[in-house]
Amino acid sequence: MTETQTKPSIETCFSPALFPHIITKENFIVVIVDILRATTAICTAINNGAIEVVPVAEINETKKYRDMGYKVAGERDGIVIDGADFGNSPFNFTKKNVDGEKIVITTTNGTQTIETAKVCDTVVLGAFSNISVLADWLNNQKKNIVIFCAGWKNKFNIEDTIFAGALIQRLQLLSSYNVSCDSSIAASDLWGLAKSNVLEYVEKASHRHRLKKLGLDDVLEYCFTEDTTPVIPILKNGKLVNAL
Ligand code: MLT
Repeated sequence: MTETQTKPSIETCFSPALFPHIITKENFIVVIVDILRATTAICTAINNGAIEVVPVAEINETKKYRDMGYKVAGERDGIVIDGADFGNSPFNFTKKNVDGEKIVITTTNGTQTIETAKVCDTVVLGAFSNISVLADWLNNQKKNIVIFCAGWKNKFNIEDTIFAGALIQRLQLLSSYNVSCDSSIAASDLWGLAKSNVLEYVEKASHRHRLKKLGLDDVLEYCFTEDTTPVIPILKNGKLVNAL
């Protein structure tokens, strides 16, 4: 076996539409990324004491959880869904709102992406807010990694891709990885362009402007600040709980 084959690989999947082309790999961990805002919001919820967060793809599915006493978080295209306690802003998941609570969440892209990855053995969530603990944890697992960007409605997006690049560069500082797929190389290059002033770079991102139009962009700085939520949401029996 060559040295390249023995190193864990890091692939990046830019959209749920591309995921079926990656899923044939064995022995890998999937890192779901939806920086604006689903994975940042779920990291915040767990960091602030939520017992579990159940991601569901369909709005209808939230009802049975509400009947079981879960708080409901949900949005479509940034608009809070009917019957929800709150939407998907990380700022909704305060200690006051979530400590000791069970939460069900449905979002435009993030929870659909988690649904797509449910068939995989190990699924965790990544955000700038947990990047250091996540990189350390992934590095200890010694497995191949797929960074799975939620994108926007199956399209590529900037914010998830620059996070993928940031995580790849963190992992490469910790160990030697096989980063040979074009998508990971491109993500890493894009992070190279963005990292000196992330908020300025993110002005180019379409979802940043969608959130601005809706008056929901107060979370921008928070979503790109590193290490505010040192937790790793991991999917266990359909529920996201802290792996640490
Ligand atoms: C999503 O899941 O599509 C996003 O997180 C939407 C958002 O929060 O704006």
